[in-house]
Amino acid sequence: MPFPSSFIAELKSRNPIETVISRYVDLKRAGSNLVGLCPFHSERTPSFTVFSDNFHCFGCSAGGDVITFIMKMENLEYRDAIQFLADKCGMTVPADDYTGYGKPKSALTREKCFEMNKIAARVFYSNLNSLDGAAARSYLDERKISAATRIHFGLGYALNSFDNLTDILVSKGFTPQEISENFLCGISKKTGKPFDMFRNRIMFPIIDISGNIVAFGGRVLDDSKPKYLNSSDTTVFKKSRNLFALNFAKNVIIGDKNDEKNTVKSYAKPGEMILCEGYMDVISMHQAGFGNAVATLGTAITSEHARIISRFAKTVYLAYDSDEAGQAATKRAIRMLTEVGIDAKVIKISGAKDPDEYIKKFGPASFSNIIEASEGQIDYKLNEILNKYDMNISEQKYKAMTEACGIIAAIRTELKRDIYVERLSQLTGVKQETIYSEIKRAYRNEEKKFKRKNSELLQSSILRYDDRINTEAAANYNAAAVESRIIGILLMYPELLNGKTPLSEDDFITTFNKKLFSNIKKLFETGETDITPLNEIYTPDEFAYIMNMKFARMPLSSNGTDALNEQIALLKKIKSESDDKEETDFAGTIEKIKKEKLNKQQ
Ligand code: CTP
Ligand code: MN
Repeated sequence: MPFPSSFIAELKSRNPIETVISRYVDLKRAGSNLVGLCPFHSERTPSFTVFSDNFHCFGCSAGGDVITFIMKMENLEYRDAIQFLADKCGMTVPADDYTGYGKPKSALTREKCFEMNKIAARVFYSNLNSLDGAAARSYLDERKISAATRIHFGLGYALNSFDNLTDILVSKGFTPQEISENFLCGISKKTGKPFDMFRNRIMFPIIDISGNIVAFGGRVLDDSKPKYLNSSDTTVFKKSRNLFALNFAKNVIIGDKNDEKNTVKSYAKPGEMILCEGYMDVISMHQAGFGNAVATLGTAITSEHARIISRFAKTVYLAYDSDEAGQAATKRAIRMLTEVGIDAKVIKISGAKDPDEYIKKFGPASFSNIIEASEGQIDYKLNEILNKYDMNISEQKYKAMTEACGIIAAIRTELKRDIYVERLSQLTGVKQETIYSEIKRAYRNEEKKFKRKNSELLQSSILRYDDRINTEAAANYNAAAVESRIIGILLMYPELLNGKTPLSEDDFITTFNKKLFSNIKKLFETGETDITPLNEIYTPDEFAYIMNMKFARMPLSSNGTDALNEQIALLKKIKSESDDKEETDFAGTIEKIKKEKLNKQQ
């Protein structure tokens, strides 16, 4: 069962939003609102506003209710934010196991996990520097990891023992059950006894962007398997969301170098990130002056990773291994990163298998050169096509040319297109004119698609609608806008959503809004009209985005049943036409958006 709505209501009334926020932000009255400097982005004039039950920042679009605020401010999950507020006012949180909106509750709190990990990291660190750590130390010596780097990353060593860490943690009051939930011990099925999860491994603490140790990776000292062991997902660690060394890299990427303890020359440029596969690559790169390197953790890049990266970096250099798996990972990363508006480039690593090896062999300056020379996506894709086919076989060459022309046809600027036509002609010996006529053919097919995409991209940039939350919104601009209007109306008037509403999940086009609608429906069906419980399944940023759909409707006079039905009809029309989309009235749409934006600012 979800928390009873009476509990949430009381919790909120005992924690008035202005009182809670005042502990963090200096609020001043401005008319019926309170305003202050936003705690979530840096600003000189206040655009952070508190009104009725909510907060909203007109600068960075953060927003939500008091629970969202605590989640974002204290970096807590929904349940922990509830606990946090309950503690402040002496309320008891009702027991519950499963909410229907989230996952089963675990007794292990985030604080406890952080504390446990901190102790573990200290144990590993002191092991590394103890008598028992000799072999581990010489392994790190061999891999040229300096003393300063070891300290910077908090590297450690898990003893070749079954109970060293578990015993220490138990002596500090953690139960074997908790230790095992936090992936630091396993529990033997045979004897029921706990045993250390990491044994005889070099330990890499994984630290989140708030500085908490959330997980560990461990590497063997020899060739035994598995080479790396990583914490699986725990209360505080999701490998689909965490990036190794982002805690350090983010400061370098946003240009705040204070955090960089490295005294070596920095090659990192603001707004740029290097993404690679492994711990050792990241560590080597940081040590060599590329403090903007991060790695996904023994897993392929996810859309969540991409979204997180996009908060810090505009350009990402991919430095995956030069093997086949690395190339497949590169392709996936290009797709994911492009989707969130990042310019992805590919570093060509030759003569070494990964960045770590490359830097050791050829030095940092040379690595910096290959970053400079890294290919944009078009070069990368063209080379990939040309390598895939045997250009000495006519039929294959024909296929390669068709594919390559398709890529070039997609380039929107004429000059750039010309450059690539010339290049493709040089590479293949096919005449430029021939390439041009093939491109024209491909272009005609693609033209509509690209015009539309281009117009949508422009539209979204005009709105500063850099949509990282509903990632499909840019490609489905009109549909997403109508969907948001519908949801906005429903949030204002929950009673409009009932058995008679001619609207179902299937009418929605973008996945985010489809899922959102279904969650709202489920919630409202329980008789709830406040969307606070959605804080549990959405991140604070997503929640703010959802609340903004409501706020966007509030100043408008046309709301209610008629407006809702009109928007529903519109959505159904868009849906039915989405297969044979016509060109949008480009100039007209832009005028409209500009107007909407002006209205919003007033
Ligand atoms: N990895 C993993 N589990 C494995 C092997 C690899 O989680 N059994 C992850 C690790 O994050 C590792 C990355 O994949 O850092 C890259 O693996 P690999 O290329 O095999 O290792 P390297 O980074 O080259 O490691 P090293 O240089 O230490 O051999
Ligand atoms: Mn390696």
